[in-house]
Amino acid sequence: MNNTIIMDHPLIKHKISLLRDKNTGSKEFRELVSEVAMLMCYEATRDLPLKEVEIETPLAVARSQVINSVKIAFVPILRAGLGMVEGMLSLIPAAKTGHIGMYRDPETLAPKEYYCKLPMDVASRQCYILDPMLATGGSAIGAVQVLKDYGVKNIKLLCIIAAPEGLKALSEAHPDVQIYCAHLDEKLNAEGYILPGLGDAGDRIFGTK
Ligand code: PRP
Ligand code: URA
Repeated sequence: MNNTIIMDHPLIKHKISLLRDKNTGSKEFRELVSEVAMLMCYEATRDLPLKEVEIETPLAVARSQVINSVKIAFVPILRAGLGMVEGMLSLIPAAKTGHIGMYRDPETLAPKEYYCKLPMDVASRQCYILDPMLATGGSAIGAVQVLKDYGVKNIKLLCIIAAPEGLKALSEAHPDVQIYCAHLDEKLNAEGYILPGLGDAGDRIFGTK
């Protein structure tokens, strides 16, 4: 799928191994999710526009480059996406953060939206949807649709682990959305969990199970 970029960095691979480990506790899990998000942010912002500036160093004037004013919003899907926000903000502290609440109905796996609060000028922002898990793709497809309904044109989605089923569904529903995925896993199980995956990301981040 040419709208999908799968990460290929040793640091990300190493940290994902630690995330998968069932013996990794909540504190370390949260830190790792944040670190992986920061590394993914580096990759997902590779196309930000630059402009030339002149900077006086202690020795001379340097022609240099800075990011050309671009308005950015990070949009975590609650709950688990919250774990990625800090890592993203550590690289782009001026970004605004919007929140979309989605949970999967445990029976049907259909996404249910229960909360939405976005920056007022979200339509003019480059938006990065954050969610560690792309399983059936229902939550991500729903979140993209919410942003499009608000008029957002420029949307990227960052997920740490994706199932092939979710990637396909999201790409078909929203082919204009660029997907950054830290690792592509094998498949979904009958309950809609990613295999081998890392379990329930929200529960592991917040220690609710
Ligand atoms: C998880 C995860 C995604 C969703 C992925 O959230 O964080 O949002 O499942 O599954 P999907 O691709 O099949 O939609 P969950 O519904 O468990 O809610 P939580 O983050 O509040 O735990
Ligand atoms: N949500 C998760 O947190 N984990 C999965 O494996 C699938 C959906």
